Amino acid sequence: MVDIEEVKIQLKNRLTEKRYNHSLGASKSAKELAKIYGEDEEKAEFTGLIHDIAKEIPKENMLEYAKKYNIEIDEIEKVQLGLLHAKLGAVIAREEFEADEKIQNAIKYHTTGNKDMDTFAKIIYLADKIEENRNYDGIDELRELAKSDLDKAMLFVLDFNIQKAVNKVTLIHPDTVELRNMLLIKNIIK
Ligand SMILES: [Fe+2]
Ligand SMILES: [Fe+2]
Repeated sequence: MVDIEEVKIQLKNRLTEKRYNHSLGASKSAKELAKIYGEDEEKAEFTGLIHDIAKEIPKENMLEYAKKYNIEIDEIEKVQLGLLHAKLGAVIAREEFEADEKIQNAIKYHTTGNKDMDTFAKIIYLADKIEENRNYDGIDELRELAKSDLDKAMLFVLDFNIQKAVNKVTLIHPDTVELRNMLLIKNIIK
């Protein structure tokens, strides 16, 4: 496993102070959630820390990266290039930190969500949304939900994001809708 303090130093050089602090917060929340749900705490701490490692790559360079690593850009990402930081982050995690597939998937899915998310990926997704620097209506409820029921907490965030996208007349990624449907179906069946 990588030296987490080393990673922090690297990250500090690649991110703004605000984003760096967000990453530290996500790392802490990810570790806490991992403990609750019996996932690898060290791995969660690391993944939370680097989940936004590609967030500040300039848009032009994002396309270069995508080409270099054969990253497929879908219709939505073509219009909202910023979304690509998730797929790019996963590749950087693999190339620079030898991150395993579990870590890569959690980073890849942390923005749109995906029906194939495992418990670890849900933890990273939620840690990103509840970390201590975040502040928005409903966050206290979400923080509690995240500790008691991962799927319900996921639904809470997905609904929030979908509503926001509708209000702002922006695109909704099909992976987000697919994940929401799957979680609802799972809830109805059980
Ligand atoms: Fe992100
Ligand atoms: Fe983030």
